[in-house]
Amino acid sequence: MSNAIRKYLIAGNWKMNKTASEGVDLANEIVLSLAHQTDVSAVICPPFTALESCAKVLEGSNVQLGAQNMYPKAEGAFTGEVSPVMLRSLFCNFVILGHSERREYFKESDAFINEKVKAALESSLKPILCVGETLEEREADKTLEVIKTQLSGGLAGIDVENAEPIVIAYEPVWAIGTGKTATPEMAQEVHAAIRKELASIFNESVADHIRILYGGSMKPENASELLDQPDIDGGLIGGAALKAKSFIELVEIARQKV
Ligand code: PGA
Repeated sequence: MSNAIRKYLIAGNWKMNKTASEGVDLANEIVLSLAHQTDVSAVICPPFTALESCAKVLEGSNVQLGAQNMYPKAEGAFTGEVSPVMLRSLFCNFVILGHSERREYFKESDAFINEKVKAALESSLKPILCVGETLEEREADKTLEVIKTQLSGGLAGIDVENAEPIVIAYEPVWAIGTGKTATPEMAQEVHAAIRKELASIFNESVADHIRILYGGSMKPENASELLDQPDIDGGLIGGAALKAKSFIELVEIARQKV
């Protein structure tokens, strides 16, 4: 990342892993190493059931808390769902939205994800909006088309003055949890296209401020080259965020570039 306007962000997506007490152990290890650094935004996103216990561990540290999903209403008869207001009350700052696993297994549409992005912003939660193509779509040369549709759908109707806190995560579906990573050049090409699209949806200045993370088998061994790309502003980390050592290493790799 060559643009000093944007601060690197390394976010750990724990997915459906870690009980509340296992989460506390992992969060404790992370806080021990990263509590005081401010060079890089470090965020952990435990499952709902571990948010409260992890929030207590993070209190007073510079490691921030995020959720992995939410329902786009403040309260009401939505059995089994969790609201943005509830997340804020547990000191969440971020929320992952539109992850490919939610799009695939829970059939989330761009329109529904858009409602969530708006509701998150209204509650002062920073949405991490995930976009990415499947292997089939890449092979059919549809990557940029798919990303544009996901961006214009997910970001529809958002006022330009509210857009800067949004974070985009580019996660090629074929690279998630597979050990296959996009090459830095492949990722940069899509990140640059995303920034261009953000400039056309909002404006150039907002696009310059929005952080675009790469996600998909990112780990200490491949992070440095990815983070060197001018439009890659951090990572959304799955597998490598479940061990304190590799998550901390990823934050340290980003710090060395600041
Ligand atoms: P991975 O997951 O790092 O395990 O590939 C990334 C994600 O799904 O956010």
